[in-house]
Amino acid sequence: MGRSILTLAAVLWYSVASAVIPMPRSVEKHKGAFVVTPSTTLVYGDESLRPLAVYFLDYVALRSVNTVSPDKNYIRFGIDDALEEEGYRLTIAPEGIEISGGGYGGVFNGIQTLFQLFPSDIYTKQCHLPVTVSCGEISDAPQFSYRGFMLDVARTWSDADRVKRYIDLISYHKINKLHLHLTDDEGWRIEIKSHPELTRIGAWRGGSSPIRSVYGKWGERYGGYFTQRSMHEIIEYAAVRNIEIIPEIDLPGHSRTIANIHPEILCDYTPDPVPTDGYEYRSAWCAVKEDNYALLEDIIGEICELFPSEYVHVGGDEVDMSQWKRCPHCSDYAAANCDNDFSRLQEVFMSRVNDIVIRHGKRPAVWNEAINGGTLDCESRVYGWESVKECRKSASAGYGTIVMPGQFFYMDMRQSKNEDGHTWAAIFDVEQCYSFDFAKQGFTASELRNVEGVEATFFSELYISHNPETCDYLDYMLFPRLCAVSEIAWGKNGSDWENFRNRLQTKHYDRMAGMGVRFRISPPSVNYADGRLTASADGNASVSTSKENSGEWQRYTHPLKTDKPAEHLFRSEYRTAVSPEAAVPSHYDCIKPAFKITSSMPESPSRGFSYAEGYKGVSRTARTCRMGDTIVFEFESPLKCREVEFLTGYEHMPRHIFHSGYLETSVDGSNFERVAEMYGGRVKLIDPKPFRFARLVCTTEGNGTPYVIIPSPRIKPVL
Ligand code: ACM
Ligand code: ZN
Repeated sequence: MGRSILTLAAVLWYSVASAVIPMPRSVEKHKGAFVVTPSTTLVYGDESLRPLAVYFLDYVALRSVNTVSPDKNYIRFGIDDALEEEGYRLTIAPEGIEISGGGYGGVFNGIQTLFQLFPSDIYTKQCHLPVTVSCGEISDAPQFSYRGFMLDVARTWSDADRVKRYIDLISYHKINKLHLHLTDDEGWRIEIKSHPELTRIGAWRGGSSPIRSVYGKWGERYGGYFTQRSMHEIIEYAAVRNIEIIPEIDLPGHSRTIANIHPEILCDYTPDPVPTDGYEYRSAWCAVKEDNYALLEDIIGEICELFPSEYVHVGGDEVDMSQWKRCPHCSDYAAANCDNDFSRLQEVFMSRVNDIVIRHGKRPAVWNEAINGGTLDCESRVYGWESVKECRKSASAGYGTIVMPGQFFYMDMRQSKNEDGHTWAAIFDVEQCYSFDFAKQGFTASELRNVEGVEATFFSELYISHNPETCDYLDYMLFPRLCAVSEIAWGKNGSDWENFRNRLQTKHYDRMAGMGVRFRISPPSVNYADGRLTASADGNASVSTSKENSGEWQRYTHPLKTDKPAEHLFRSEYRTAVSPEAAVPSHYDCIKPAFKITSSMPESPSRGFSYAEGYKGVSRTARTCRMGDTIVFEFESPLKCREVEFLTGYEHMPRHIFHSGYLETSVDGSNFERVAEMYGGRVKLIDPKPFRFARLVCTTEGNGTPYVIIPSPRIKPVL
């Protein structure tokens, strides 16, 4: 009897231990079990591990802590110099649990594995003891020393509590770098004491701020920033969790915020202020002005002082070089010194900035475009984001390289066709993310030697158009894709997609629920046959259903009899998780009736109104919007539909929009009735009365960009 219980315990342990994410290198099961009770002693054999004892007790309430071990009933942390720095050995024996790490990070990683052997309520910090853990040994170490996540706090502000929450979440996955994108065209988020104006002005946009609202919040004043003191606390919080914070000041492009505060950093030419309603839209530092390097010395000097990280990221992506081409100083310099190659001029700029970083005792990190001129020092670490090809180019040129091509690692990409998110790199879900494989992507052994690791990224321009007061959207975009990235970074250790999916669904979904993560699960499959609409979800998920535009969801329990299947939506739900909505394909059908656009704003010579009129793509105006501007859609015949949406801005990106406005409709083109208010640059009518004319009226001055985007309206047919 006793023996069969032990065997059962061993089998259960094996199934739990082999469900760890990221997959450990080796898992051995032994006989017996250890019971963790409140009287178990927590032992740390090395003073450097004291913070981990404090950390552990926050999750598991043990009454006694010591630096020497009793003979039995202990959980002991120790250092074993024979192990790799971040490697660990987790041994569970009948007398106690031992976690030996090569260093602090190794012990931390071992603790995370032990957490995954506990019930998932460990993550709620209210784990009920006793907990029985069956005996065995896990020996483990990461493939890559750099396992990163980048959060853009510039576009959508994330305060210290939110950043700490994501530090917890990524640390549970053994991710050890948090790259904070602190500055961009839309915000400056870190206090610089010698230049308080950078946050006093640049941490806020919209409303009365000179930094215009470009994304979201529809013109309201919006923002926030980290004081150096609060950043210091975040750095310490992260360090306990084996996470290094790598700051990024994005230069010389993506600098519109600082340029609005210090216009003297810009190139010397007078731009045409008409398209932007007088707003200074230039975004790049002049590469030649000597005073610019003095200002950068102040900023970078403070950043180097504040952050203990070995590296400081200084940007280098997506520089609009047309500004340098128009500048007499930059163009003369490029002609005299760079054979008119402006990528080389960028390298002149980056080299000067790198010198500042190095003089302050740090190493520079840059985005991959910064090495396009072919002369940047190999001391720089390169973050390859544009493509796998750019990552391989950087690694083969000898740069320490972080691999993060958008089609696998950009968590702001959409996860399936009808969801929200960017599409410029790819539409990909967790399965495609998990499919990333260095060999299949053509990395040679010598390239791989220069790969320091991988990084998942979240640029946050779309986040703000959801409810930025909650974490729901970011959670949904990150999880479970970030779990896949963590396993790619750790080394897949022979696992394949089916194996990973099984670990996710059987164990990790519950762990993420325990963590309070609003993660994404796959949508139900929906079928329509013989007048009956059915839906079924994967695994333990339930299904809910809703009639379109009702906003009300109920549990789906039986097939729906209907002759209008396109009206019904379904989604899967599991604890804290939700799937995207699913429907029969005809739900997504749109009609394309003929219409013409006229506007108080002139059309762009290169993207005129005919694009939207022909349903060929978006049109653009030739200037930004002003109060009272109009866009009129004139349909050839009265429009009858079950739903119509008029948009400004890109369909999935609220930018180049009317920040506020309203919609009027008319049957004759002279008598208009105000029928709805715009929100987020768009307005939708449900079951409208037929009309021939629709007029969008703008009620804000400017939109922070040089034009308005006009897509074709989205019109759903009467069923
Ligand atoms: C980037 O996505 N521009 C680094
Ligand atoms: Zn210049």
